[in-house]
Amino acid sequence: MAVPQNILKKAETLREKIADADYRYYTLAEPDISDLDYDMMMKELEKIEKNYHELITPESPTMRVSGEPTKKFEVVTHEVPMLSLANSYNFDELIDFDKRIKNLIPNEKYEYVCELKFDGLAVSLTYQNGIFVKGATRGDGTKGDDVTKNLKTIRSIPLRVKSGMYKNFEVRGEVFIKKDDFEKINEEQELRGEKLFANARNTAAGTLKQKDNKAVASRPLNIFVYYFRTNDETLSSHFKNLEILKSIKFPVNAFLKKVSNIDEVKKYCDEVDNIRDTLPYEIDGVVIKINSLVQQDKLGSVAKSPRWAIAYKFKAKQQITIIKAITLQVGRVGTITPVAELEPVFLAGSTISRATLHNFDEIKRKGIKEGVKVKIEKGGDVIPKVVEVIKDKDYEKIKEYKLPERCPVCNSRLEKPEEEVSFYCVNYFCSAQVQGRIEHFVQRDAMEIEGLGTSIIEIFLKEGLIRDFTDLYQLYKYKDILINLERFGEKSINNILNAIEESKKKPFDKVLFALGIRHIGEKTARIIAKNFASMDKLSKASVEEISNIYEVGPKIAKSIKEFFEDEKSKLLIKKLQSAGLNFKVDESVKIKFNGNFKDKTFVLTGTLETHTRDKASQIIEEFGGRVSSSVSKNTDFVLAGTEAGSKLNKAKKLGVKIIDEKDFEKMIG
Ligand code: IVH
Repeated sequence: MAVPQNILKKAETLREKIADADYRYYTLAEPDISDLDYDMMMKELEKIEKNYHELITPESPTMRVSGEPTKKFEVVTHEVPMLSLANSYNFDELIDFDKRIKNLIPNEKYEYVCELKFDGLAVSLTYQNGIFVKGATRGDGTKGDDVTKNLKTIRSIPLRVKSGMYKNFEVRGEVFIKKDDFEKINEEQELRGEKLFANARNTAAGTLKQKDNKAVASRPLNIFVYYFRTNDETLSSHFKNLEILKSIKFPVNAFLKKVSNIDEVKKYCDEVDNIRDTLPYEIDGVVIKINSLVQQDKLGSVAKSPRWAIAYKFKAKQQITIIKAITLQVGRVGTITPVAELEPVFLAGSTISRATLHNFDEIKRKGIKEGVKVKIEKGGDVIPKVVEVIKDKDYEKIKEYKLPERCPVCNSRLEKPEEEVSFYCVNYFCSAQVQGRIEHFVQRDAMEIEGLGTSIIEIFLKEGLIRDFTDLYQLYKYKDILINLERFGEKSINNILNAIEESKKKPFDKVLFALGIRHIGEKTARIIAKNFASMDKLSKASVEEISNIYEVGPKIAKSIKEFFEDEKSKLLIKKLQSAGLNFKVDESVKIKFNGNFKDKTFVLTGTLETHTRDKASQIIEEFGGRVSSSVSKNTDFVLAGTEAGSKLNKAKKLGVKIIDEKDFEKMIG
C-alpha cells in the first residue's frame, strides 16, 4: 500500500522539527520547545514509521538509537589520512614554528586560525547526498573503526544536511564528555561497584567503542567539529570551512580566532590558559593552523603531522600539599603500589586527595616521607603525580619512610625480584590478588563479561560461589542461590550468566590476555597467539622459541614459561578448556592468506621507509608469516631497510635471502 501524501508530509515535517529542536538544544544551547513537546513529536513519528515501514530511513531521528548490538566494528580506510599534530610547550617553540613557515613560504602573507585543543578522540563523518552515511574513529590515522551507529546517538551531529550546496563531504571533529557528566558517570560506576574511569577522555573512548548503541546513548557524548572537505566546490580557507560547517548546522566551538601574526597567537594562548578551568569540557592546549588551504598544501606534511599546524600544550597545573600517609595497594599479580594520601587540595577542576607514587625506588629517589610537603601535578591524565618534595627546614626532622615487609592485605612476606623495582606479595591466594585476577579476566579488553563489577565479584567470593575465574563457568549451576542473594534478581543474574556464556566465543588471544600472565599485555597476547596458534603449542614452547618472536623479549618468554610450568596454572587451564573456551586461533578468520608469507620467517633490519616496523610485522603476521628478532639458518627472508647493520651481514654469511622494500611490496601484491 502506498503511503498517503498527507502522512508522507507529516513525517517529513516532524523530522525537520525534531532536527531543528536537536540543533537548538544541542548545538546552540537555546532550546525553544519543552521536553514534553519534543517527546510527543518523537512518539508521533515513531507511530507513523511503525504503520508505514517503508518510511523508515537510516537518517530518521528515530534511528539515533536502534538495531542489534554490533558484533565487530568494520574497518574503515580514511580517504585522506587523519594526521596528528606536532606539539610545542613554550612560546619559543611557537616562534620557531612561525620562522619555519616564513622560510617555507618566503614573501607570502599568511594568517593563522587559533582553536581549542579538545581532549577527546578524533572521528571522521562522511556524508553522501547530504546524508550521514559513515562515522569512523581515527584508529592509526590510516584505518579506523566504523562507529556510525554510536556516533548517530550524538544529537548535535546532523543526520542529514538540507543545504543544496554541500552534498558529498567529510567532517572531522573531537568526541568528548563534559567534566560534570564525567563526574556523574564515575559516581554511578562507584554505586554499581564498577571500575572508575581515569578521565573524561578515556570515558569517551570507552563509550565510543561500546558494541551496544543503547548503552552509548545513555552516556552523554558531545562533539566539536574542526575540519571540512568536499569536492563539490573549491575551498579556500580553514576559517571559511568552519563558517560553512556552522551554516550547515554542525557544532563549531565558539572560541575561535583568526589572527595575523605569532604575537596574537601568543595572546590567544594566554587568554585560553587563563579561562581553561572554567570551561565545561577538558582541553589540553591550543591548535594553531595556517588559514589558507593553498598555503597548507604548499607546506605539506612531514611523517605523520602537517607542517602547517602545531599544538601548543599547556603546562600541567601544580599545587602544594602534605602527604598525610603512604598506603599500599596490591595488584592482581601481587605488585605492591605505594599511594600518597594527601591533604585534599583543589587542582585543575577537582579536589585531589590521592596520588600514585609508582614504586619504592621513586619514594627513595624523591626523598618522599609521611608528613612532608610536596608539589603535585595534574598532566594529561586525571591521576595526579608527586613532582617533588619541598625540602624546608622541617624536612630533615621527619623520619624516613620504612619499606614494607608484609602484604597489607594478607600479611604474607613480600619479595623483590633483583631485576625489578617492584615488591610482590608472595601469596597467590591473597584475597587482593584473587579479586584482581578475576577483575582482569572479565574486563572489556579480555573476556568482556559485562555486569561483573568489583562489588559483585566481592559478593560472589564472600559467598563462596567462586574462588577463581574458572568458577565463573560453573555459576549457572547455582542460579537459585544467586537469585536469592541480596541486591540481585532473576533478570540481573540471567544477564550475568548470559554474558559469561557469550564470553566462551572470545578468540584465543583474548583468552591468553585474560589469564593475567605477568608482562603479557593485550598486544603481546595477540602476537603470541598468532605465532603459536594454540594453547597446547604455547604451553610446550621453550623460552628460546618464544623470545625468538619479534617484539617478544626474554622477560616475557620467561614469564610465560613459568606460568605454564606452575601446577596452579595447569589446573586453571584444564578447567577453562573443559568449560569450552577458545584454545586455538580460528583459522577461518585469517582472511588475508598470502602464499608468499605462509609459514615463512622474516627478520626486519635497518630503517624502513614505506611502512614502520610495526606495520610491516603486522602485514607479515596477517598473511600467515612470522617475525623473528635474530637471523639464523631458519630465517627465510631478511627485509633490509637503509643503514642495516650486523643482521644484514649475518644474513649474507648464512646465505639467507635478502629483500628490500620494493621486493616486499611485490610479495604483498
Ligand atoms: S586538527 C592535522 N583541531 O588533536 C590536523 N585536532 O594531535 C589534526 N584535536 O587527532 C587535527 N582539538 O584528536 C585539530 N581543534 C582541533 C583539535 C584537534 C583536538 C586532537 C585530534 C587530533 C589530535 C592531534
